[in-house]
Amino acid sequence: FADKYLQDQHWVITAGPTREAIDPVRYISNYSSGKMGYAIAHAALRAGAKVTLISGPVNISAPRGCELIEVTSAEQMYQQALTYAPQGTTFIACAAVADYRVADIAKEKIKKDNEHMQLSLVKNQDIVADVAKLANKPFIVGFAAETQNIAHYARGKLKRKNLDLIAANDVAKAGQGFNSDDNALTLYSAFDEIEIPLANKQVIATKLVSLINQHYLAKSTK
Ligand code: PMT
Repeated sequence: FADKYLQDQHWVITAGPTREAIDPVRYISNYSSGKMGYAIAHAALRAGAKVTLISGPVNISAPRGCELIEVTSAEQMYQQALTYAPQGTTFIACAAVADYRVADIAKEKIKKDNEHMQLSLVKNQDIVADVAKLANKPFIVGFAAETQNIAHYARGKLKRKNLDLIAANDVAKAGQGFNSDDNALTLYSAFDEIEIPLANKQVIATKLVSLINQHYLAKSTK
């Protein structure tokens, strides 16, 4: 089955935002809708892969046939990703993980008694970078959401986090990136750079999945 070219692969994909609690009724998050990660899950399933989708809170349904692991915070996503990633052939970090969490989550709802208030934040662990430190690590693809100097920052993340590939998107442009139906990506490896022009995220995902597989096969036959 040429169309089932991922038949022997298991893809573990993170998607959506994370939520970092401030108090029982408030949180810090971002505009990720999960659409890009879910589209990749869908495309990988169609190509015959087994798919584990580790997802932050989103308003879309998971594609039929995937194993869905629902999480809320970056710490929860970290635990699940480090558990499932070693079982996979391929790990895709499409989630928009909060870089920081609140140092002390208030047990009760914070009252608006003061004119100014400050939140103290601490850095979250980097999920994809730590997956890349595993002895039995899969093939690893990160994303880079940038608003400027895209190629420079994306290549920096590729190297620093020790990834096989990084898919960079310009999230300053209207109509693509966070929460839109469309996207445009540049896929960087240590050796090449491939443009995937603006299109619906389903179309982007289909192309991206095939390109990732080509790089995966090239690496495993080296
Ligand atoms: O969900 P959508 O609305 O469809 O939007 C898609 C998207 C814009 C969120 C997606 O295409 C995207 O770019 N995802 C990555 C967003 C991001 O947080 O990028 P970053 O440049 O901050 O992070 C770089 C990489 O490190 C990413 O692979 C990220 O998943 C990973 N990371 C970051 C922080 C952290 N603590 N752990 C991580 O694994």
